[in-house]
Amino acid sequence: MCGIVGYIGEQQAYPILIKGLHRLEYRGYDSAGVSMITSQQALNVYKATGKVSALEEKCSAEDTTGTIGIAHTRWATHGEPNTVNAHPHRSQSGNLSLVHNGIIENYKTLRAMLEKEGYTFHSDTDTEVLVQLIEYTQKSNKCDLFTAVQRALKNVVGAYAIAILEREYPDRIVCARKGSPLVIGVGTDAHGKKEFYIGSDATPIIEYTNQVIYLKDEEIALMTRQSDLPEIINLANVHQTPEMHTLRLSLDELEKGGYPHFMLKEIWEQPNALRTCIRGRIHVQAKDVLLSGIVDHKERFLNARRIIICACGTSWHSALIGKYFIEEAAHIPVEVEYASEFRYRNPVIYPDDIVIAVSQSGETADTLAAIQLAEQKGAFLYGICNVIGSSIARATHSGTYIHVGPEIGVASTKAFTGQVVTLCLLGLAIAKVKRTLSDEMFHTLVDELQTIPDKIQWTLEHNKDIDKFAQMFTYCRNFLFLGRGYNYPVALEGALKLKEISYIHAEGYPAAEMKHGPIALVDEEMPCVFIAPKRGMYDKVVSNIQEIKSRKGKIISVVTEGDKTVSDMSDYTFVIPDTRDCFVPLLAVIPLQLLSYYVATAKGRNVDQPRNLAKSVTVE
Ligand code: AGP
Ligand code: GLU
Repeated sequence: MCGIVGYIGEQQAYPILIKGLHRLEYRGYDSAGVSMITSQQALNVYKATGKVSALEEKCSAEDTTGTIGIAHTRWATHGEPNTVNAHPHRSQSGNLSLVHNGIIENYKTLRAMLEKEGYTFHSDTDTEVLVQLIEYTQKSNKCDLFTAVQRALKNVVGAYAIAILEREYPDRIVCARKGSPLVIGVGTDAHGKKEFYIGSDATPIIEYTNQVIYLKDEEIALMTRQSDLPEIINLANVHQTPEMHTLRLSLDELEKGGYPHFMLKEIWEQPNALRTCIRGRIHVQAKDVLLSGIVDHKERFLNARRIIICACGTSWHSALIGKYFIEEAAHIPVEVEYASEFRYRNPVIYPDDIVIAVSQSGETADTLAAIQLAEQKGAFLYGICNVIGSSIARATHSGTYIHVGPEIGVASTKAFTGQVVTLCLLGLAIAKVKRTLSDEMFHTLVDELQTIPDKIQWTLEHNKDIDKFAQMFTYCRNFLFLGRGYNYPVALEGALKLKEISYIHAEGYPAAEMKHGPIALVDEEMPCVFIAPKRGMYDKVVSNIQEIKSRKGKIISVVTEGDKTVSDMSDYTFVIPDTRDCFVPLLAVIPLQLLSYYVATAKGRNVDQPRNLAKSVTVE
């Protein structure tokens, strides 16, 4: 899901491509690569793991000449971040090179078909299938690249933004998109000649031109040196007229997708991020959940005596929701441990235990040490990470990536919901193996889980005014967050979000525990945030709200759309759509993320990089 840059014109392409890659660095990535066609018609490809500067170093001794080229920063989804898997990928004959953002879901089927046709593969990526498929289509149809791309993509299931070079035709670039953005910049060089820029967003383009065309889903574009505008056709064979737009955003605004902070961008990205997380794992027609990490180790999960989840911070909160769900759906006892505590005790671990590490970064030192200890004691290790090829992903025997794309804001938002969804998928997959849910219940849960991205979108749109009343809480010194059952971890997460970015002290508690101590803190200055959906222990939560109200605490509540009882008792309410108890956390956390964001910005805090915090805590 990372970055693409492309150029065709009269200038040297390499400096433009490298600068473009630097501009895209804010998106996070793990490797980078470039491809140019030289004046002698050589198609050069150079790649490096790590930073763009490592690629530059590698290229310093190479021939990087040419006025046409493509480049990429990769955020691995299929295959480790290494130079072989980095893009651009070449076709079998070496005539094509291609860069890709996104995920090809049917790559295994396509790869098997191409292997039968004599194609060999060098990488573990889904991307390499695309370049081979395009070459295969071009050869078998004896057609030009533009037509071949269009025909080939009709067989592709998944999300892509691609750009392709053809060695024999150094006067053209073809690009296409579906579900992953691609922008074409139309510029004029110093001699008045047209030139084209390509970007996965406008950041690599803006310094050269503000005239852009946003490629639409299922469109394929051809840019040649001879034309003033790209030629565009869609998958349904209909020619499209390019629509020119004038960019008005600054570079800084562009990087953040028009949002003032990465955190807000990532909060709003959640519907799409979770669609990607679910994609390919829920099989809609078969109503099935397929996690290869479980399929490959079926016996382990069938015979597991216990699951222990180790994590820190926000990941610990998602683990707690995972515990509730896995115990309910798959009937396996689950313990959730702070990795930093677990690693320094002498925990009892049985060889038939499964130890799961949950970590966005995959680099958290305590979590890594905890699973290393568990491995020494013979446990089977499972990783739930976001960063592909990270230390924890490599140290575990099996696992599932959450696939929510790079998270830049220090306060975790989309990784939290991605972890919860992944843990629910895991619970469902184990339940399927163990047959602990009736078919009817299994299908109901699978169907409901698929509605969650749309329901998050609804929640975001119906809570836009949080920014207005968040101002009123900037004076507060303390906050209480209260919830029961599945919503107790949401209370913990709401409190953590608020304290880490606004620096207001906040506590999360199980709502009923409050009367065993924290209620002593309640007075008219204490806002209490209740997660009170019309589900499960609703009546009990209503009583807890009453207890706070009679002590003059201010009530902020998260309620189900249409609820009157709690809304009437509350000073402020946030609405969420109805869903099953187990999925309420995915919706209820959204207004809490927004609340902490707006309180923190109203206080002038640096929300993306709060004081004293680091995005990945690689020291203990
Ligand atoms: C989240 O908002 C925090 N910044 C922090 O608690 C984080 O969740 C924790 O450090 C764990 O990180 P990880 O998921 O990368 O392991
Ligand atoms: N799925 C591709 C890969 O793993 C592309 C990833 C990206 O969008 O960077 O190589």
